[in-house]
Amino acid sequence: MSQFDDMCAAARNAMQRAYAPYSGFAVGAVVRSESGRLHAGCNVENAAYPQGWCAEASAVAALVLAGERRIVEVVVMGGGSALCTPCGGCRQKLREFADDDVPIHVCSPEGLRRTFTLGELMPFAFDAGNLQHKDEPPGTASG
Ligand code: THU
Repeated sequence: MSQFDDMCAAARNAMQRAYAPYSGFAVGAVVRSESGRLHAGCNVENAAYPQGWCAEASAVAALVLAGERRIVEVVVMGGGSALCTPCGGCRQKLREFADDDVPIHVCSPEGLRRTFTLGELMPFAFDAGNLQHKDEPPGTASG
């Protein structure tokens, strides 16, 4: 099996474990880190709806828990006819640990649907580089 096939298999497993009784929309996400390890996550909903979280957030938490920091490839897997692209908040969460050129493979359980780079999904991202002027008084940073 290729590395990509391994990621899809892990995403499929994660998707099957999703806790999504309210939306009925299961999502699995897998991030591959620099070391080659795969870190999977699923969405976890809550009766207090805003307290639920996305599959990508779970996968990022697993990455950090494993002591890793850099993401080199991502698979997001969901059903439906529309592409299951990461939501805005998840693009930002991925951006913390992934560069603009990292591929995000949007998949269904049947396989790959489309590949984007993170930079395509979220151009001009706000990131750690924006905070480099944090010692300057508010309003004086030149960008
Ligand atoms: N969801 C994800 O897990 N990832 C995304 O990027 C989009 C949305 C989940 C959140 C919620 O549990 C369900 O899909 C419906 O929005």
